[in-house]
Amino acid sequence: MRHIMVLNSKGGSGKSTIATSLAAYYAGRGESVALVDYDQQASSLDWLARRPENRPQITGVAGFEDGFKHLPRSADLAIIDAPAGCYGKQLTELVRHADTVVVPVLPSTIDILATSKFIDALREVGKVERKEVKLAVVGNRIRDNTLISQDLDDYLGTLKMPYVTKLREAQNYVRAYTRGLGIHELPEYLAWPDWEQWKPLVSWLNSKRSQP
Ligand SMILES: Nc1ncnc2c1ncn2[C@@H]1O[C@H](COP(=O)(O)OP(=O)(O)OP(=O)(O)O)[C@@H](O)[C@H]1O
Ligand SMILES: [Mg+2]
Repeated sequence: MRHIMVLNSKGGSGKSTIATSLAAYYAGRGESVALVDYDQQASSLDWLARRPENRPQITGVAGFEDGFKHLPRSADLAIIDAPAGCYGKQLTELVRHADTVVVPVLPSTIDILATSKFIDALREVGKVERKEVKLAVVGNRIRDNTLISQDLDDYLGTLKMPYVTKLREAQNYVRAYTRGLGIHELPEYLAWPDWEQWKPLVSWLNSKRSQP
């Protein structure tokens, strides 16, 4: 079973938004998906509770309560939604459960500075040092042609890890969460620009480059 984790110690960077859409995307492709929520806030499990019955099923796991104990063995894929504020031992412990880590970052100076410290901490985790986990960054809530989005681009471009895509700021993400859907499950006429932006992320995740 492959483990893909969405992780950034900075709160509100889009971890739950991306984790839920990833889970729905893979479930829609016929994979057996477990969505492991490691955050007490349980945003991913709340989303799952809103999911319509006629959509491809996803198994929710309350990782914040008892870790991976209830992860179904039959799952092909675990998508893990990490909590904010993750450092030190907790970070090492979380990364132990990941093959691939996606780090979403917002275009804001506070987020860039916080993420920069977080990436330093992440790089010091033994498993990351040993390259037993693959990392990528994603810009999130991007508004084109803003100075701060350019700053984020510059910062993410300097990191020695794949900067796979930029996701725009869009009400579609709010809409999808509210309805228990992934971004790929919204109507095409609404969400096609978002689907385009997800393509590089999905293609990285489906390539060997994202697997240790
Ligand atoms: N691309 C986007 N466009 C518009 N709104 C977004 C986008 N991504 C996230 N949001 C909104 O930003 C807020 C924070 O997103 P989310 O809860 O996914 O972040 P998080 O990293 O999981 O937060 P936390 O650290 O609290 O767990 C939510 O209200 C969400 O709907
Ligand atoms: Mg969250």
